[in-house]
Amino acid sequence: MKLSVIGLGHVGLVTAAAFAQWGHEVMAFDIDASRREHLRRGKVPFYEPGLQDLFDEAVAGGRLTVVDDLGGTLAGTDVAFVCVGTPPLPGGGPDLSYVEQVGSAVAEHATGDLVLVEKSTVPANTGRRLEQVIAREQRRVGSSHRIYVASNPEFLREGNAVEDTLNPDRIVYGTSSVHARDALREVYRVLVDEHDCPVVETEVATAELIKHASNAFLATRISFMNAVAQICDRVGADVEVIARGMGLDDRIGPAFLRAGIGYGGSCFPKDVDAFAHLAREVGYEFDLLESVRAINSGQRDLVLRKLEGELWHLAGKSIAILGAAFKPGTDDLRESPAIYLAEQLLEQRAKVRIYDPVALNAVAKVLPDAERFDDPLEACSGAHAVVVATEWSEIRNLRVEDLREHLAHPIIVDGRNVFDPDTFIEAGFRYHSIGRRSVSPI
Ligand code: UDX
Repeated sequence: MKLSVIGLGHVGLVTAAAFAQWGHEVMAFDIDASRREHLRRGKVPFYEPGLQDLFDEAVAGGRLTVVDDLGGTLAGTDVAFVCVGTPPLPGGGPDLSYVEQVGSAVAEHATGDLVLVEKSTVPANTGRRLEQVIAREQRRVGSSHRIYVASNPEFLREGNAVEDTLNPDRIVYGTSSVHARDALREVYRVLVDEHDCPVVETEVATAELIKHASNAFLATRISFMNAVAQICDRVGADVEVIARGMGLDDRIGPAFLRAGIGYGGSCFPKDVDAFAHLAREVGYEFDLLESVRAINSGQRDLVLRKLEGELWHLAGKSIAILGAAFKPGTDDLRESPAIYLAEQLLEQRAKVRIYDPVALNAVAKVLPDAERFDDPLEACSGAHAVVVATEWSEIRNLRVEDLREHLAHPIIVDGRNVFDPDTFIEAGFRYHSIGRRSVSPI
C-alpha cells in the first residue's frame, strides 16, 4: 500500500520504518527542515536502539522516502498517519493544534480519497474534531475527496520502540468507515498473518480511550507501588519482595510494579493529566488520577528530603546524579525525575555532577549549570552524596568499593533500588533506597 507518515519523532519514524519493513511504500514528512535534512543524510536524529538499522534497510530498499512538502507526501496515498506531537498545556490538556494543522493541510492537499489516521495520543473526541476541520477546509478549497478518519494508537516504549512496533501485544484501531477499517486491516496484515497479533477493531472514541486508559492504568500501578513503598519505609518492609509476591498472582502480573523516584517521559505524565482533563471536561472528576500524579511528584521530593536528612543544608554541597534520561535505553529527558532533582538542587545552590551514558548532549541544553561526566565514578569524585536516578546497566554494575573510594562521604540515595542494601550498609554507606531496607534516618 501507499502510506504517508506525518511527524517523524519517536512514534512517526519507528512507524514509518516498520511499515516499510512490512512491504508498504512510505512517504514521510516532518515540519522540521533540519530533521528532514538529517534523515536524508541517513542519520536517525535521536537515540533509539535498532532504529538506525531498520531505517537504513527501509531507505536502501527504496520503500521509505523523506519528502520536503506535505502535499508531496500525500500524492497517491491510501492511508496517512498523523504522528505529530501533542505536548501538555499549562491547564493539563494536550496541545492539539499540530493535529488540527495536519488535518486541515491534508484536506487541502489530498489528491484523492484517503484514510486519515490519528496515531498521536489524543483525547477521545479528537476524531470528531478532525472531521469538522476537514469538512470546513474542504469547503474552503472546493475539494470533494473522501477523507475517512480513524484512530490507531501506538503503545511503543522508548528504548524498546522497534521491538514493540514489530511485535506488538495488540493492534487497536477505531473507525466508523468500512473503507478505513479494510485499509487498516491491509496495513497490518503481516502482523496478523505471520505473528498472530490480536486486533481490537472498534470505533474512533473507544480506540482513543484505550490509549489513555492504558497509560493511565500503568502509571497508576507505579504510583500504587510507590505509595506501598512509603508504608514499607515506615514499617520496615521490603517493596521489592511485595511486588514479587503480588506479581505472581496471575490476575495482577509482575510488570510495572517497580517502586522508585517515579515515572517520567513524554507519555505517562502528559497522558495522566490529559485523561483527568478530559474527564473533567465531560463532567467527571477522576480523583484517582490526581492522586497518581501527586504520589509521583512526592517520590521526587522524597530524594531531596533524604539528602537533606543526611547533609542538612544542600547549598555548597556537591551531589552526583547517576543517570539523566527518564529511563534506560533513551536519551529523552522529558519529565525526567533526574532533571527535576538537578534543578531543585541547583536552585538550592548545590553543585550538581551528572552522569549519563547517552544523554549528556541533551543535558547540556537543559542544565547548563550542571557539570557533566561520561564516567560515573568521575561524577562521584569528591561528591558529598550520590543519587541513582536511572537504572542504566553502567550504573547497576558499579562496585561498592569504587563508589566508596571516589565519594567524599559514603552517602547514597538509590532512587531505582538497583543495589543490594546489605552490601552497601556493610561497606559503611549511609544507604537509602525506596521502600527497602535503608539505614535509619538521622
Ligand atoms: C510508555 C508506555 O509504556 C507505552 O506503551 C506508551 O506508548 C508510551 O508511554 P515510555 O514512556 O517509553 O512508554 O516508558 P515506560 O517504559 O513505560 O516507562 C515510563 C516511566 O515509568 C519511566 O520513567 C520508568 O522509569 C517508570 N517506571 C516503569 C517505573 O517507575 N516503575 C515501573 O515498574 C515501570
